[in-house]
Order: sequence, then structure tokens, then C-alpha cells
Amino acid sequence: MSPTTPQRPGMHSRNISSSSFASAFDVARSKLGELAFYEEDDDLPDISSSESAGSLSRDQSPSPSFEISDGGGSSPASPISPATDPTTPVVADPDVVDNFAFAFDIDGVLIRGGKPIPEAIEAMKVLNGENEYGIKIPYIFLTNGGGKFEVERCHDLSRQLEIDVSPGQFICGHTPMREFASRYGTVLVIGGEGEKCREVAEGYGFRDVITPGDIMKANEATAPFRQLTAAEHKNSRDLLAGRRGSKVTKLSDIVIEAIFVFADSRDWASDLQIILDVAQSKGGRLETRSETFDEGPPIYFSHSDVLWSAAHEHARLGMGALRNIVETVFTDTTGGKKLNTHAFGKPQVATFEFATRLLQQWRAAQHGLTESEPPATVYFVGDTPESDIRGTNAMNEKSKNEWYSILVKTGVYQAGTEPKYKPRRLVDTVLDAVHWGVKREMGRRGVKGGRKLSLDEKVQLGLV
Ligand code: G3P
Ligand code: MG
Repeated sequence: MSPTTPQRPGMHSRNISSSSFASAFDVARSKLGELAFYEEDDDLPDISSSESAGSLSRDQSPSPSFEISDGGGSSPASPISPATDPTTPVVADPDVVDNFAFAFDIDGVLIRGGKPIPEAIEAMKVLNGENEYGIKIPYIFLTNGGGKFEVERCHDLSRQLEIDVSPGQFICGHTPMREFASRYGTVLVIGGEGEKCREVAEGYGFRDVITPGDIMKANEATAPFRQLTAAEHKNSRDLLAGRRGSKVTKLSDIVIEAIFVFADSRDWASDLQIILDVAQSKGGRLETRSETFDEGPPIYFSHSDVLWSAAHEHARLGMGALRNIVETVFTDTTGGKKLNTHAFGKPQVATFEFATRLLQQWRAAQHGLTESEPPATVYFVGDTPESDIRGTNAMNEKSKNEWYSILVKTGVYQAGTEPKYKPRRLVDTVLDAVHWGVKREMGRRGVKGGRKLSLDEKVQLGLV
């Protein structure tokens, strides 16, 4: 950076490491590990004080507070932990605005059925400086989806959107579950392709991960109409094998301490059967049945989206639908007992508070905005009123800074219908959303479009 480049107030000039993105990636990644999803004294928060319906834990009972992970977050073996943590701080980029930022949902906004929505690629270009004002705008991604390591999803997204996406700017549905790794021993992990979610859970530090495949391998009668394929049988673990010498000699010696639904189920029938078997067991002990049906282990869903936007023209059933079925069938098969499950993800305010911390880290690690306050406005662009808009509006109520909800018509929300949760702005595509946010910010500063702003002007306008 030439010595003549005008300095932004409070900006410190420093040497930049070889590839700014890579170092930002590592810095952000290591800092992300230290980011706690819940502060020490947090109960599992409900959606927001003013909206108790449909809160995180359906029974409103405060959940026990969670230990905060030791800042390392990911176990050494985990592929998501960075190799090194370069100490070369990043020089703040004078073109980067620090007064507002964007946060994006993925399915139905940027991607549909694994393919990029064309306007999404254009929208990223605008954020990265290809706009009439010559500004760059920080952004993060907040999806309820999951089923892969964050770094793998970021690779996919980088390829689909033709940009570099870092785990330091990315949160998925199961990201917060990392913090439960130190809390539970033997857990049942549900969802996703094959054994992928077991790998992710072990990458988060979970020590003893069992999958439905392991249970069906141990007892073929578990799901009468579901036989494991040869590959599934090979990939599933022998539940008793690894436990020889330990007191575990039969399935009922194994105790499931918690159930984590990491990603959308690929086999609802057997997953439903196995979740209910454990929920109706004696304290999580496999192959047992409780008399009282109130001693099952806690069940955590990474989100509660009943509908989501995939390749089909109409929205598809999501994990929230499976959650509803689990709770309803539990009541139907226990003489009316109620099952309380927990859900992470959007619309939980805690998820948006976590995103605020991630955005702060990312703005510092990637853009050198180390001294900056949180952006005055975060524009959240989503396609699902029940999760994206509801959560953003609830966060806006609770947060010091403004969370501005924008609803697009490229996903779950169907144009012409009345959204259950009202967005601040309804637009056709994510590109319109980005243009709207930038125009609103410039309009607030009386800036007419069509010309690049000098650094002095950006400083005077309080943009940087
Ligand atoms: O399973 C994922 C889906 O429910 C929603 O993902 O990106 O729209 O939050 P997203
Ligand atoms: Mg979506």
C-alpha cells in the first residue's frame, strides 16, 4: 500500500502477509474457535422476550447453561482447525465501509438445489467493489443448512458464487453444536449423507458418536422395512466391537446421553423410529422402554425449518417437519406424554447474536476493522419468513444496532402471498436486496449515485 494512500481515522498502517485472504482465513478461523455461542450465564435463549411462541425449547423451561469450550473449539485432528495463526495483522482497506454490512441466508437466496441463483453472483461483485461508489461492503453467511464441515461448505459456495468464502464468515445450523462436545460422552447423531455428520461431530470433538446405521447394524429388526445396503453396513460401526473389555456386552449397556440432529434426514422412517426408541427409553439406554416416558435424553435439532427451498419449484419439507412428527408421534404413542425438544439456528436470537460476534471478528480479520464498533446496520437477506425475517426482526428489537430484514422471492416465500413475519423490504432477488441496502445508506447521507467517492468523502459521510 503506497505511503500516500489517505489514512482512515484510527487506522493503523501495518505489513500485510503473503495472501491476505489466507491469513484472514486462518485468523478468522482460529478466532471463530474462541467465539462462544452462548455466554457463560446464558440459558438457552428463546426467540426473543416479546415472542415466546415457538421458542427454542418448547416447554419454556430454562435449559442448563453450557460450559464454554476451551477456546480451541475444534479438536486438533479436525480438518477445520487452521494450521497456523499468523500474527501479521491486516491493514484496513480504505474502500471498505464500516458503518453497514450484509448477512445472507443461502438456500433460496444465493443457491437453489446446489446451483447458484444468477443474481447472487452479481450481488457478490457489487459487495466486493464493483459498484458506482467504489466501496466494498463486509458480508457473512448464516444458513440453517448443514451436513458438511464448514470449510467444505465454504469451498462449495466459493465455487458456486465465484468468490473466496472463508469459514471465518460462515455459520451453519450445527456450528453451535460444537460447544456440546465437552458436555456429553455417548451421543446419537442423525441426518446428512452416509456417515458425514459423524465425521463433523467428531471434528467438533464429540468422543463417542453413534449413528442410526450402527443401531440398525446391531439389530436388523430396528426398522422392519429398512435393510442397510452393503456399503452402509460396511461404513456402520459394530456397537459392541469397540467396547469389548468394557462392561458393555449387550446393546442395553449403551447409554445415549443426547441426540443431535445435525442435518436433514435422508431416511425419515428409520430416523423417526430410532429417535423415538431412545426418547422412550430408560434414561437413553438402548433397547429399553421407560414406564413413565419422561426420562429420555435431550434432543437437539440444528434448526426448525418446516419448509426449505431446493431444486423443486415448490418448497420441500425440512428438519422442522421431522421435529414436529417426532413430538406428535411421541405423544400418540405414550398416552399423551409431551416431548420437549430444542432447536438451534434461525429464528433464534442467539444465532443472530453469534453472527454479530462472527461479523466483528471477520471485519477485523479480513478488513482490518479492528477498532470499529459493530456496523450501525446489518441487512439480512432471506427467503423464509418463519426463520430469516422473524429472527432478524426479533434481533432488531433486542440489538443496539439495526438488523434490517429483506425478503426475496426466489425461495420459500411465494410472491403475492402475505408473509407471516413482515420484512422491512420485499424484493425480487438478492441483487435487488444489495442495491436497496446500498441505495438506502447513500440516500441517508444525501449521496447521489453514479460517481466513485474519494476517501475524504467516505470519511466525511461516516461510511468508513
Ligand atoms: O436444511 C436447510 C434449509 O432448511 C434452509 O437453509 O440456507 O435457507 O437457511 P437456509
Ligand atoms: Mg433459505
